[in-house]
Amino acid sequence: NKKGFIFDLDGVIVDTAKYHFLAWKNLAKSIDIDFTKEQNEQLKGVSRVKSLEKILEWGNKTISEEQFTSLMGKKNEEYLSFIATMDDNEILPDVSKVLNYLIAQKQPISLGSASKNARPILEKVNLLSKFDAIVDGNDVSKAKPDPEVFLIAAKALNIKPEDCIVFEDSVAGVQAANTANMISIGIGEKEVLHEADYVFSDFTEMENSFIEELINR
Ligand code: G6P
Ligand code: MG
Repeated sequence: NKKGFIFDLDGVIVDTAKYHFLAWKNLAKSIDIDFTKEQNEQLKGVSRVKSLEKILEWGNKTISEEQFTSLMGKKNEEYLSFIATMDDNEILPDVSKVLNYLIAQKQPISLGSASKNARPILEKVNLLSKFDAIVDGNDVSKAKPDPEVFLIAAKALNIKPEDCIVFEDSVAGVQAANTANMISIGIGEKEVLHEADYVFSDFTEMENSFIEELINR
């Protein structure tokens, strides 16, 4: 019995939201826009381009295309400088345990992330080899909540979408999984992720028996 297990990266495998936040905050400040933690929440799962568009919208600012491109580059440069310091201590609790359990059960595993920095991050935290497929921001043309990223992952694993299970921390990601006809498992707060089929605050709350049920359903 094989299912496809698809993991979002930021906020599910590693807590990079804090680095995205710092980089966006500094960037917003450089163009006199205030950027709050609450706004950062709304950027979870949202692509780099869309994120900057939203920040400009919140700040009531219009800029030239050139400045837009340059700001995107600046943000990523700073984000990459944070990423450079990452190691496997930044893997979220029990993520490795779940990945190893799935591998022991011979279940196909894919990444399904909006990030264009997914590979270097997985390399930094030493998890790249756990994945049978990596689908990230470089492979998609439509951002979550569009299901494209997860449908490509299912194809890469050669598993039907209805036999796939998605782990997501963002509302947009949960919606994408639901639209793809996959089982959605929210990692985070129940109130925020109420559209998910199941919600766990983190992987320490997830028993192996639950994963076994998913495999055998
Ligand atoms: C994830 C994060 C977002 C981020 C996006 C793009 O979805 O949750 O906050 O904007 O990836 O990441 P990137 O590394 O390509 O800038
Ligand atoms: Mg995420």
